[in-house]
Amino acid sequence: MYTEEMLDLMKVVEAKREANAALEPTRMTADEKEALLAQYHPDHKVEEFRELLIGPNKGGKVPNELADMLEANSRLCGKDIDLSNPDYETDVLIIGAGGAGTSAAIEADKNGARVMIVTKLRMGDANTMMAEGGIQAADKENDSPAIHYVDAFGGGHFAAKPELVAKLVTKAPEAIQWLSELGVEFDKTEDGTMVTTHGGGTSRKRMHACKDYSGAEIMRTLRDEVLNRQIPVVDFTSAIEIIKDDKGAAAGAVLMNMETKEILVAKAKTVIIATGGAGRVHYQGFPTSNHYGATADGLVLAYRAGAKLRDVDTLQYHPTGAAFPEQIFGALVTEKVRSLGAKLVNIDGEVFMNPLETRDVTASSIIRECSTRGKGIPTPEGVGIWLDTPMIELKNGEGTIMKRIPAMYRMFAKYGIDIRKQPILVYPTLHYQNGGVDVTTDSMSTVENLYVAGEAAGGVHGRNRLMGNSLLDVIVFGRNAGQFASEKAKSVTVGSLTLSHVDAFAKEMAAAGIQTDKVSPMLLPDYARKN
Ligand code: FUM
Repeated sequence: MYTEEMLDLMKVVEAKREANAALEPTRMTADEKEALLAQYHPDHKVEEFRELLIGPNKGGKVPNELADMLEANSRLCGKDIDLSNPDYETDVLIIGAGGAGTSAAIEADKNGARVMIVTKLRMGDANTMMAEGGIQAADKENDSPAIHYVDAFGGGHFAAKPELVAKLVTKAPEAIQWLSELGVEFDKTEDGTMVTTHGGGTSRKRMHACKDYSGAEIMRTLRDEVLNRQIPVVDFTSAIEIIKDDKGAAAGAVLMNMETKEILVAKAKTVIIATGGAGRVHYQGFPTSNHYGATADGLVLAYRAGAKLRDVDTLQYHPTGAAFPEQIFGALVTEKVRSLGAKLVNIDGEVFMNPLETRDVTASSIIRECSTRGKGIPTPEGVGIWLDTPMIELKNGEGTIMKRIPAMYRMFAKYGIDIRKQPILVYPTLHYQNGGVDVTTDSMSTVENLYVAGEAAGGVHGRNRLMGNSLLDVIVFGRNAGQFASEKAKSVTVGSLTLSHVDAFAKEMAAAGIQTDKVSPMLLPDYARKN
């Protein structure tokens, strides 16, 4: 429920709504965007980053919080682990059970491999489940993978690996087909045509959605398929170190039961890391739209095993996190709200930008409006900008909100806000890890037989991801990793298991003078009150 003061401020938005809805805000020039990002985007705050002192990315800049985790002690420190008698043995070990992990499992199983999934929470407890707006694929007549490529590569500031972007976009139509055949209920018109919309930075309407709970629908389907295939899933069990063999290839993982803390050993011919993102690290103190388990574990596991990272100095701040009420502070307000016509409005009732600029530009623009321009709306948690949701029905007709974004309606209605009639308050929220573990088009990292897929992998999105390319990424590269890892497993003979790389890493830390009481991977965020 809004305060009296907020309701007063809202009158300005209401008074200008019709005129604002008719506006066609101009796009920024490339130079304007670069200047804006340099001054306002959190990736450009130099004091928030430091150079790594050790490991494959030594000398590279990463966020302070990530540096602390990459240069922390192993959870095995001081423990003697018996690798001679593994608790589990499989062909393909998959760490993580979100969209990428389950897609990988399905494909590896289809390819005849013995597969095992291990997940620190439950299958589907992942960012995939929380994805709202949709999944991109160029499968309409006015579109093509080449146009999708230009949008994605340009939107990422030309920093992605071209061959990964090419794979992402060319495999996209097939991904939609695959999901449909598995049972995903995409939004369609009465004649069966897929309903598609724009996202920020897309030049064609290619966002396929299941209303505004696309991820939940996709995850539901993938989870069913894993269960149908009777693929073993070991839940509430986290991977805490990658095991290698004496040839230096990945050969399993040390696991920890999250409840009993029992240590277990899983031996495998190939390993896929699909652990997802890092929002719960709360870089720079930002709130997050991410799942509770998004703690960058995959980066730590891979790095200590010797894998190179890339673009991990860039994070995505989704422009529209809920800024009010406090119970949903930081929760995702899908970009689809803007795709459907809602505009961003400041305290004076002005539309200050085109709402479908790319995410980094939109987030920076909101930060500028609320900081130096002083045009934000005060909230109990800080500040926000109006997202004028009633414009949606003004543009598309009554009933659009319940039909296209019912989850958004429900999220705010719980707190007495009817988004059909009242605007909402938003501010950027930590949403996505743009970079990750460096991989080839086969999804293999720089460590032999260690594959990485989904948000934990880097190189697909450059320095800014477009909406809908994350659900696409987990499907395309999850499947890709499952196919390549299972095929490779057919020719692998695992040597003797070792954790000598973990000891070597500890020695490297000591030699660099790093002394810390921190341990990693983080596994779960620490929200306990300290006083
Ligand atoms: O705004 C959204 O619905 C988010 C989508 C995405 O991150 O791809």
